Amino acid sequence: SHSIDLAVIPGDGIGQEVVAQGLKVLAAVLPQDVKLETEEYDFGARRYHATGETLTDADLDSLKKHDAILLGAIGDPSVPSGVLERGFLLKLRFAFDHHVNLRPSKLLPGVATPLAGQPAIDFVVVREGTEGPYTGNGGTIRKGTVHEVATEVSVNTAFGVERVVRDAFARAQARPRKKLTLVHKNNVLTFAGHLWTDTFHKVAAEFPEVTTDYLHVDAATIFLVTDPGRFDVIVTDNLFGDILTDLAAAVSGGIGVAASGNIDPSREFPSMFEPVHGSAPDIAGQGKADPTATVLSVALLLRHLGYETEAARVETAVAADLTERGDSVRTTDEIGDALAARVAS
Ligand code: IPM
Ligand code: MN
Repeated sequence: SHSIDLAVIPGDGIGQEVVAQGLKVLAAVLPQDVKLETEEYDFGARRYHATGETLTDADLDSLKKHDAILLGAIGDPSVPSGVLERGFLLKLRFAFDHHVNLRPSKLLPGVATPLAGQPAIDFVVVREGTEGPYTGNGGTIRKGTVHEVATEVSVNTAFGVERVVRDAFARAQARPRKKLTLVHKNNVLTFAGHLWTDTFHKVAAEFPEVTTDYLHVDAATIFLVTDPGRFDVIVTDNLFGDILTDLAAAVSGGIGVAASGNIDPSREFPSMFEPVHGSAPDIAGQGKADPTATVLSVALLLRHLGYETEAARVETAVAADLTERGDSVRTTDEIGDALAARVAS
């Protein structure tokens, strides 16, 4: 028999509510002989106000012992912008080498999109997760004067680019359409852009079955709206990936259904799975949050841990639920219960 040892970080706002549903569905889908152990951590705004801590080295040591991490959302208006983002979320992604930030987009039947004619949308963005402009490599001089200069240096290493590009090729290879699009801005960002482009072509030689394509990021935003069906797998840097995946979520059902995995494919560290949405403090505690994005993140978690059958069951249940949802207004709990019932039957 097997077991899953999960670190659970509900976090702030609606994080608590949606994570509860994710765990409900996880417990329902796992075979009887798989033991699910969970340990809850209290990271987020409350702990920051109480202790001044966001994520300590001791926290990282504890988290490291688990097989995977399920995160709800971290963030609250009472905490200055950037404190929890850098001090918790990015710290965790960097410390655990989550270099593959996996963000699938699939427009399911019955789900509203602002795009005309319900186009077929089924692609996955492999966003680099540990480099680019996110590294905090920058500074300000002459601060507060009219001559202030601020830099925010994008860090791109051959090692970091090659490993995420190779991961994206492998994912493209495993999909029916076998197509990979590199998105960058190599006409302007010529140093990083050329490293990405050269690496992309080098690794492409190892994957002769994969069709390759390149788009500048500005053009990619046009195609995501006018012709999203052209995308299968996209690989891109940390910041472009951040922006593209919000756009991708907006065209494929909204952030209520956008799931993500922050993955260390080497498995040295536990990977972390979280909905793309934030803590939505305006609707927290009202049972209004859609737990679907968290439940789909649980599917990614299951797949990462080798439970492919169970992952597919969760995705099938979500697809069926969305198809039948119509205009019905259900609480967070009711949606969780409905999904748990579907995966269990
Ligand atoms: C995301 C978020 C984070 C990011 C923020 C909260 C640091 O927008 O997960 O996409 O920029 O990566
Ligand atoms: Mn984002």
